[in-house]
Amino acid sequence: MALKCGLVGTGAIGRDHLRRLSSTITGVEVTGVVDIVDGLAGSVVKDLNLAVEVYPSDRELIHSGVDAVFITSSSTAHAETAIRAIEAGKYVFCEKPLATTAEDCLRIIEAEKQYNRRLLQVGFMRRYDKGYVELKEIIDNQVIGKPLTIHCRHFNQSVVENYSTSMLITETLIHEIDVLHWLVNDDYNTVQVLFPTKSSKASSEHIRDPQVAVLTTQSGVVITAEIFVNCQYGYDIHCEVVGEEGMASLPEVPSVRLRKNAASSTSLLVDWKQRFIDAYDVELQHFVDAVIQKGRPEGPSAWDGYIAAITADALVRSQTTGKAEPVVLADKPSFY
Ligand code: NAI
Repeated sequence: MALKCGLVGTGAIGRDHLRRLSSTITGVEVTGVVDIVDGLAGSVVKDLNLAVEVYPSDRELIHSGVDAVFITSSSTAHAETAIRAIEAGKYVFCEKPLATTAEDCLRIIEAEKQYNRRLLQVGFMRRYDKGYVELKEIIDNQVIGKPLTIHCRHFNQSVVENYSTSMLITETLIHEIDVLHWLVNDDYNTVQVLFPTKSSKASSEHIRDPQVAVLTTQSGVVITAEIFVNCQYGYDIHCEVVGEEGMASLPEVPSVRLRKNAASSTSLLVDWKQRFIDAYDVELQHFVDAVIQKGRPEGPSAWDGYIAAITADALVRSQTTGKAEPVVLADKPSFY
């Protein structure tokens, strides 16, 4: 029997997940959607040619008989909807970040605690990307020996004008924060942000862009991550792990090599939706399958969402203090 689900927030990724859940993912039926912007959910449903009920609020959608709730609303709205859905006993797929503060992540964890089991998965889709999965296998199988350093970059062509200095951490680097400690099976120890010369192409006069984050793990791996959200040239994700016996990098995105006008070139992506398009499919299918077959999601948990949030908080603190800030975790509930 199909998992009945509702989706909250029909903006950019909400629309994309709605299309995915209705046409690509098996074992699931979308029965309801909601968006706080009047008329938006209805027009998205119409555009995608779906027969799906539009609800006036997330509360009504949650109590409409759905088994699972997909949260694709703005980041600041995630926590309240997630807690409401968990308290109603629903499975939850929540886009990253789980919440915008570590305290809100702990509230979500508290809500799960009453069941003593997981109900929620966070949308850290990089863990489902073929390149990252292969990189993790190489590290786990000790092909390059003990990891020592990681170099990575997360570049966007441009961002909206109201993107802020802290959002480079909480909205952009959050993906690296999650995937990197997962790659090396380690927790963070300290984190620091350095500000290089500000780009004159930054999207507003208030934003510090680019930034360099330096993260150390408990076992001593040193990670440098460059974040540049107005790099102009494309969407560029890179990750290179240096180990005692070798080095492993994410593969380049395949693209035809063109020889023309005395030059040889390949094109780069500009849209994040394309770069991880397969990973999003695998991620949502894994969530649906695990809930149906095992009665619990098995992807990134609320605890992973909390680790990302508390690490992001420390990085944002470092943006002000200029110092390396410690990452101190709460006690981990045993069911994670
Ligand atoms: P968006 O601004 O295009 O869409 C958000 C939608 O949520 C808007 O239509 C807004 O009206 C609606 N909304 C806000 N509060 C609501 C509430 N309380 N109830 C119902 N609807 C509400 O933003 P976008 O880019 O689609 O991002 C949405 C979320 O997905 C963000 O948390 C973002 O960080 C995350 N995201 C994740 C990505 C990934 O790679 N995993 C990629 C892009 C976004």
